[in-house]
Amino acid sequence: MIQKPKGTRDILPSEIYKWQYIEDKVKKVFENAGMKEIRIPVFENTELFSRGVGETTDVVQKEMYTFDDKGGRSITLRPEGTAGVVRSYIENGMASLSTPLKLWYEMAMYRYENVQKGRLREFRQIGTEVIGTQSYLADVEVINLGMQIFKALNISNIKLNINSIGCPKCRAEYQEALRNFIRPNLDKYCDTCKTRFEKNPMRILDCKEEKCKQMNQGAPQILDYLCDECKEHFENVKSLLKELNIDYEIDPNIVRGLDYYTKTVFEFISEDDGLTVLGGGRYDGLVKEIGGQDTPAVGFAMGVERLLEIFDKYNSNSVKDKTVDIYIANIGDRANIFATKLVDELRKRDVFVEKDICKRSLKAQFKYADKQKAKFVITIGDDEVDNNRAKMKNMETGNEIEVELTADEIVKNL
Ligand code: HAM
Repeated sequence: MIQKPKGTRDILPSEIYKWQYIEDKVKKVFENAGMKEIRIPVFENTELFSRGVGETTDVVQKEMYTFDDKGGRSITLRPEGTAGVVRSYIENGMASLSTPLKLWYEMAMYRYENVQKGRLREFRQIGTEVIGTQSYLADVEVINLGMQIFKALNISNIKLNINSIGCPKCRAEYQEALRNFIRPNLDKYCDTCKTRFEKNPMRILDCKEEKCKQMNQGAPQILDYLCDECKEHFENVKSLLKELNIDYEIDPNIVRGLDYYTKTVFEFISEDDGLTVLGGGRYDGLVKEIGGQDTPAVGFAMGVERLLEIFDKYNSNSVKDKTVDIYIANIGDRANIFATKLVDELRKRDVFVEKDICKRSLKAQFKYADKQKAKFVITIGDDEVDNNRAKMKNMETGNEIEVELTADEIVKNL
């Protein structure tokens, strides 16, 4: 049997209602904040990610699905959404729209990762990008939207960690301090870290290798090197979060896995399973890096599969799949045609109604209705067609009433 590729998953009909529930709730939170949805291609020119996400990141060095297309172009399946959204912002002249531009998306992403719990090769992200403002107010707005999403989904036990990783100005001095710290042990670091030492030593702090992690302990922290502007920005973010009663912890170890970040970075971690469900931050240099005007921006993305894992724990009793309102069982050709027309009329009135389309016996039809947990069953044969009346049975209570077989009368009795 041909199986799905490692690290992918099927989203089955039996669980799709949860996805749709989450998507509806999230969409409402975004739209109430004036955000518009954007949809962009699954694949982009590889250069977008090597420039945008960064040559020294794990994503670009190890995890991209990259191939040459038949025209010889290097193409990459998007490993994340921000670079593509920014590319679209520039390419479509969105800079001329009113500022800030507030966008949201839900998209599948592709990363060739070590597959484990919460780490897939095809996964979905719901995210937002706010482009065109450098104010700390935007940082807090997106963090707050993240919080609102968890509240709307009834999910608790989520911890917010924040950090500031400064701007290119303050980072230069910090990177030098970091190199001085690492240099004496450099030959003991893994090969990947060695390649990052000159170009981007902050990446070394994000290495997952145990021996590198050990040697990183006690490394200088970026927070001690922030320039006045970055310091003030971070102070403002923190005090507004406090005003809004949003609890946070400062985690100086958050460097994030993508190179475009500046100033505020943040992660929402589920204390139930320890996984980061949402990650984001400010990226003031990315628009220019990709070829646009110097434009500040901030955003986040949440992993929908990870969200779903915890969603179940908080919602399995309250969020249920829809069940059919009425099942119309029928026997005989006349009754079948009659039932088909009645189903049409009921569906026009937005009723969830089903009838047999397999020419099955009445017994089999009842069994099906039972399995579907139909709320009501109406049974139609020749007599019912002649009299235009039939029994309508409430399947939960077992009560039966007689109704006129018109859509309006049936709807009244639901
Ligand atoms: P990221 O931290 O790489 O950021 O991913 C965001 C979230 O996507 C993670 O916190 C996690 O929940 C989920 N995620 C990442 N990789 C996987 C995976 N292999 N399997 C399952 N879930 C995963 C970004 O992608 C940035 N573009 C976020 C952003 C938007 N920053 C600014 N704007």
